Amino acid sequence: MTDNPSDFAPDFRLDSSTKPSLEEYGRFQQHLVLLEDAGRIERFRSAIDTVPAGDVVIDVGAGTGVLGLLSLIGGFQHAILIEPSRKMSAYARHLAALNGLSDRVTIVTARLEDVDFRLLPTSIDMVISETLSSVIFGFGSWDFMSTLVDRLRDPRNVIPSRGRLLVAPTSRRMATRGPDSDGLSILKSAGLTVDLFERTFRSAGNIYDKAEVALALANGTLQAAELASFDFGRNPPIMLDGVNLAPAPGGTVGIVLFWDVQLAARAPDEQFTNLDPLVTSWYPYYIEFTQPIETTAHIQLQLVACDAPYTYAFRILADCEPVTNVLYW
Ligand SMILES: C[S@@+](CC[C@H](N)C(=O)[O-])C[C@H]1O[C@@H](n2cnc3c(N)ncnc32)[C@H](O)[C@@H]1O
Repeated sequence: MTDNPSDFAPDFRLDSSTKPSLEEYGRFQQHLVLLEDAGRIERFRSAIDTVPAGDVVIDVGAGTGVLGLLSLIGGFQHAILIEPSRKMSAYARHLAALNGLSDRVTIVTARLEDVDFRLLPTSIDMVISETLSSVIFGFGSWDFMSTLVDRLRDPRNVIPSRGRLLVAPTSRRMATRGPDSDGLSILKSAGLTVDLFERTFRSAGNIYDKAEVALALANGTLQAAELASFDFGRNPPIMLDGVNLAPAPGGTVGIVLFWDVQLAARAPDEQFTNLDPLVTSWYPYYIEFTQPIETTAHIQLQLVACDAPYTYAFRILADCEPVTNVLYW
């Protein structure tokens, strides 16, 4: 057990060569998209500004390390960057050096859930984590965040502090792309069945017209309910209860998923949502049912826990019958 961040040098790391999935997020193109996203960067930058600078910040899912490095520029003394991708860890190390911050950075190349918490400081000044993904809880780190939050000198110093995953049944298809309109249909006509479309979400989301969703929510065509939430001021912080939904008028062909988040506990009015047109990394999702539901029966969304690397999954039932496969995120 140590409180001295310099005890972390040399960095400890897992051998990710045996876990190729850890490199899943190690693509520079994806991180460039994240860095080019002015809405995202600005929101996180101002959230960092609300937290009084202290000794140690831990950045979970650090990627390029920019959030931890911004915190150092804002006055924090030492940043511990936790990032499973070896490639991104190496780049974060490069960025720290490029900015003359190497002495103030410790890089832990591991998933949060694989970190030996006895080696982390018992007293932390800020925890920051941009592991929202397109549907929140997309990464395995979420269940372990509270272990870090419990070590905060001030429990308000976690970014993000709370958030909700919302779902709205829709009577209208919300995405133009689909299994019949893309390369999957070419594969199908060549005689090859690929069911990945039915098994998951697309990595970049699929409702690109955010304004259309916002308008439908404003005029009541879409009615959203909370599917899951987190709040680090609550115990337990993560709620994955599933939900009963009133069907969309005129039949339900699928659901739209989106999220809103309060990044800084001290700025409750500042909302960060993937419906914001200024946020260009994250989009709302449309998930089509295997067949439309004509009845007025309530629709149940059932969340199911499952093993890594999938972490969470859910399926949708209508009249107790599944209308989607189990969808992993
Ligand atoms: C959306 S990126 C954010 C990168 C960076 N923090 C930023 O804001 O630009 C999420 C990062 O979380 C990392 N990650 C994924 N699963 C993780 C886990 N279980 N524990 C810690 N980090 C994880 C990914 O490798 C990825 O670099």
